[in-house]
Amino acid sequence: MIKRPVLTATFMTLAASLLFAGNGLTEEVYDVKLYGPKTTIEWNKPIRATFDHKTHTMEAGLECSSCHDEVFSMQRGVAVTGRNFTMKAMAEGQFCGTCHDGDTAFSTDTNCMACHGVAEDPIIWDEPTKAAFSHKAHVEEFSLECNSCHSGVFAMKKGAATMNNDFTMASFQEGKYCGTCHNGDDAFNSSTQCGSCHFPPTEKIVFNQPVKTVVFDHDIHVNQEKVSCESCHKEVFAMKKGTVEGQEFVLSEDPAEKRKYLENLHSKYCGTCHDSAQAFGYLTRCTVCHIGVKGFNKMTGGDNKTEEHGKGH
Ligand code: HEC
Ligand code: HEC
Ligand code: HEC
Ligand code: HEC
Ligand code: HEC
Ligand code: HEC
Ligand code: HEC
Ligand code: HEC
Ligand code: HEC
Repeated sequence: MIKRPVLTATFMTLAASLLFAGNGLTEEVYDVKLYGPKTTIEWNKPIRATFDHKTHTMEAGLECSSCHDEVFSMQRGVAVTGRNFTMKAMAEGQFCGTCHDGDTAFSTDTNCMACHGVAEDPIIWDEPTKAAFSHKAHVEEFSLECNSCHSGVFAMKKGAATMNNDFTMASFQEGKYCGTCHNGDDAFNSSTQCGSCHFPPTEKIVFNQPVKTVVFDHDIHVNQEKVSCESCHKEVFAMKKGTVEGQEFVLSEDPAEKRKYLENLHSKYCGTCHDSAQAFGYLTRCTVCHIGVKGFNKMTGGDNKTEEHGKGH
């Protein structure tokens, strides 16, 4: 514990003189005694914020006494134990707000990022669908101010929007929530690129009604075949389990009617692609989707077309 600071100091003096000798530029050595602790002071509750002595003492030329001990104790973690270490108190001239009042230094109602940085972990919603939002991307990559979302669009609290019952795609299309910007103008429209916000289910979806099991695998379609979410979820299927099974299925006794009905049913759903052109046709390989041949017999009214199964698996 004694050796290390000495070594560091020696190294830094050496580095500074090398720099000086090298190109005539010099950088002032950070002296802890003169400028206060070197490491960034960091708070994580209730949100992340940071403070650097360097920018205040060495760069802005403030004396220790301008903060210690009236504004802040010379001990890390003291301010945050009080209940009052809030933006409201700061706006009233306490803590950082002693100077960050728009006069001595930039005001606390602007430039939130300067003190708060950005949360690394995305916000993830699990209900009713799984979706994610990245502060890092929006703030760092797309240079958005906290205020562009946190003055009216979203509360600064995870789960707040979910408590309202209008946190839906329909609201986005009306320009609310994510749709404030994801309108095709300020950012890509929320009726496109579902996959950039939503996660596909990892488990296979199994239809058990009204006929023999049909298995649908997102992995095959999304990861292997690179079919985009919106090619199914914009018009064909709702992004919700049970929409197909919730349909009314009517089977007429008339074989011709029956065939027509089943063709309509299939071409409305899986058959939008499984038409022998974009993907194998639903009329040819029943058992690739239907585990079992009951459906086939039902569709054909039991007539002799079983050889078509041969084209399946
Ligand atoms: C602009 C305000 C400000 C100035 C100026 C300032 N400090 Fe601090 N200092 C802080 C804050 C904020 C903390 C953390 C207090 C807390 O967490 O409650 C702190 C904490 C400290 C700590 C405790 C660090 C730890 O790890 O526990 C020391 C030591 C310290 N300051 C020394 C100094 C010295 C020496 C100077 C002058 C060279 C100085 N400070 C100038 C704001 C300031
Ligand atoms: C004693 C006055 C004072 C206090 C108290 C104070 N600051 Fe500052 N702060 C300044 C001044 C002066 C500057 C430089 C001028 C400016 O940027 O407006 C500055 C600049 C900053 C910067 C910009 C640094 C940069 O990279 O340019 C940040 C971030 C910051 N302060 C954070 C804080 C935080 C967080 C607190 C409270 C924990 C705090 N300050 C308390 C006076 C103060
Ligand atoms: C000068 C530095 C500074 C600026 C600028 C600043 N904050 Fe803070 N903020 C802090 C510090 C320090 C805390 C207390 C420690 C913590 O919670 O991380 C805090 C706490 C908070 C909190 C939690 C406590 C509370 O008041 O509810 C929120 C929310 C918050 N800030 C939002 C914002 C927003 C939004 C902005 C911009 C409009 C902003 N802050 C600008 C330094 C700053
Ligand atoms: C593009 C929009 C957007 C921007 C810009 C943005 N946020 Fe957020 N923020 C959100 C959303 C969405 C939530 C979650 C709200 C919900 O679940 O209802 C959130 C939640 C939060 C939370 C609560 C996190 C939790 O776990 O409870 C904090 C703190 C926060 N934001 C701080 C900030 C700060 C600080 C900035 C600027 C550096 C910022 N946000 C910029 C959209 C944004
Ligand atoms: C204040 C405006 C604004 C709001 C509100 C907003 N975004 Fe964005 N978002 C952008 C901008 C700008 C881009 C970058 C331009 C683009 O990709 O079209 C972007 C890009 C994205 C991306 C692509 C990022 C990447 O890493 O590729 C995702 C995903 C995203 N936003 C999700 C969301 C979600 C989820 C919400 C709501 C919780 C939301 N956004 C709310 C402005 C916003
Ligand atoms: C910009 C990000 C974003 C895009 C793009 C997006 N969504 Fe969403 N979606 C969300 C968020 C955030 C929620 C609300 C939280 C949740 O359900 O996880 C949501 C909710 C939903 C819901 C449940 C609530 C409702 O509206 O019924 C469905 C279904 C849904 N999205 C489908 C889609 C489909 C289909 C697409 C593509 C056509 C899509 N989403 C594109 C972010 C997005
Ligand atoms: C080839 C068509 C197809 C594609 C592509 C597709 N899905 Fe699906 N998805 C379905 C079907 C079929 C269902 C089940 C519908 C039903 O039960 O009525 C479903 C259901 C879902 C569900 C609800 C699951 C549940 O357990 O409630 C989510 C979430 C979902 N899909 C997300 C996605 C996302 C995200 C993508 C893109 C990455 C995607 N899907 C791509 C066909 C598709
Ligand atoms: C948006 C277009 C699209 C829709 C809708 C669609 N699929 Fe597919 N599916 C494909 C493509 C493309 C392939 C890969 C090419 C092929 O196998 O012919 C594929 C392959 C498959 C396979 C793998 C076949 C094999 O040989 O391994 C199965 C099983 C399957 N789909 C079932 C379904 C079911 C069940 C539905 C309806 C719930 C459905 N698909 C809806 C496009 C789609
Ligand atoms: C691409 C996948 C796929 C293929 C191929 C396919 N089906 Fe289906 N079929 C479905 C889905 C999905 C349903 C609706 C969910 C369920 O009933 O399990 C369905 C439903 C049915 C139903 C029930 C309709 C009702 O109202 O009772 C019958 C019967 C049927 N299929 C017969 C067939 C026959 C016969 C073939 C081959 C000629 C075939 N299917 C090929 C996916 C497929």
